[in-house]
Amino acid sequence: MMIDTRRAAELDTQARQILQDNDRGGFTVPTARLYPYQWNWDSAFAARGFGEIDKDRAWTELDTLFEAQWPDGMVPHIIFRRDDPDYFPGPRIWQSGTTPPSSGYSQPPVAATVVRDLYEAGPKETAEPRARALFPKLLAWHRWFHEQRDPDGLGVIAVAHPWESGRDNSPDWDEPMSKVDTSGVEPYERRDTVQIHAEMRPTKVDYDRYIALIQFGRDCGWDSREIARNGPFFAADPGLTFVLLRADRDLLALAGAFGEAGAKSEIEAWIARAEGGAGYLWNPQARAYCARDLRSGEQSDGVSSVSFLSLYAGLKDGDHERSNIESLERISRVCRYSVPSFDPEHPKFDSLRYWRGPTWCVVNELIGRGLAERGYSELARRVRGDTGALIENAGFFEYFCPITGRGAGGGDFTWTAATWLAWASPKHFATKD
Ligand code: DGY
Repeated sequence: MMIDTRRAAELDTQARQILQDNDRGGFTVPTARLYPYQWNWDSAFAARGFGEIDKDRAWTELDTLFEAQWPDGMVPHIIFRRDDPDYFPGPRIWQSGTTPPSSGYSQPPVAATVVRDLYEAGPKETAEPRARALFPKLLAWHRWFHEQRDPDGLGVIAVAHPWESGRDNSPDWDEPMSKVDTSGVEPYERRDTVQIHAEMRPTKVDYDRYIALIQFGRDCGWDSREIARNGPFFAADPGLTFVLLRADRDLLALAGAFGEAGAKSEIEAWIARAEGGAGYLWNPQARAYCARDLRSGEQSDGVSSVSFLSLYAGLKDGDHERSNIESLERISRVCRYSVPSFDPEHPKFDSLRYWRGPTWCVVNELIGRGLAERGYSELARRVRGDTGALIENAGFFEYFCPITGRGAGGGDFTWTAATWLAWASPKHFATKD
């Protein structure tokens, strides 16, 4: 589908306006009220969007994200610069003890990839000092993931809270999360379902478990080692593993450009370990990369969209790649708007419920990029075209029904606007796959 030039220009204007309206002075919120703070991977995508209109502002978005980096290198998933009654759980629940206050879990590290993109887009005189200043912070964050979320050196990265994966209520987490004891959860009141229809959000059972995991982290003083060894939930995530592997390759390119020889060999070792470890996530029955509960060894059994990120991660894994492509082709025949977050032919698919089915534009951007880089031009065009069609027909929603294209979750969403500007708008069709 091709969007005509006038309509594309209108959408460009709307997308720019959304970035401006969600700007809180150096950082953006994902959308007003529903998510009133700075979120980690949302900000990285926002920086990609700002890169199309104001490069200085793009760098500032990343600088403010790293203001919240913990002394151990972790970059939290939410930064609370003030207390806002519209969101639960806020800073008083997390009790991070940091300045600024933050959550205690992280999120998929797309930032190094964005830094490399911005650095290479130049101009060198201004981009290089900004990228160099961020380099040691990115390195420390990646090191934290490799040490604290892969303590046994398996070459796969675990998440200690489903929020850390960015895919909160994905069926991937059903089995390991079912073991989380919620008997000690303190009374709480959700704010999300006051604003968004409950059928589009995680359930009450999910939330009880989310809060139990926060209480565990808080009660051990956010000790990463304790969380990894004894936390109630610790599951290897193909999404995080692949995003980090890609980000490590981009960080390696920056290390080369900046003459950082020590960092270079450290990053090369991470990449080699991940390339050797990824097979641990391959599920031969599902014929996909699936999450794995690191306490029990059990695997999830459905095709989640992050399985397709193996291409974006630069894995060249022969048969697995072929199976992944066949699954993506099958799923794209079933769904008008690819790529659903979970297999539409699996009994757990739920077309509107957050990460149990809906299509997310930012994940499409990563999948599409990987497909194009590996030469799957037709599928890459399909994913990009579907993303543009969703936005054109429904607006800049948080996520979308993959069957009908209906917009869902929050509206005027920063990362959807950013993805439009940086990747999905027709101007990119002319220049890239
Ligand atoms: C939420 O509050 O829904 C977020 O996804 C947590 O990061």
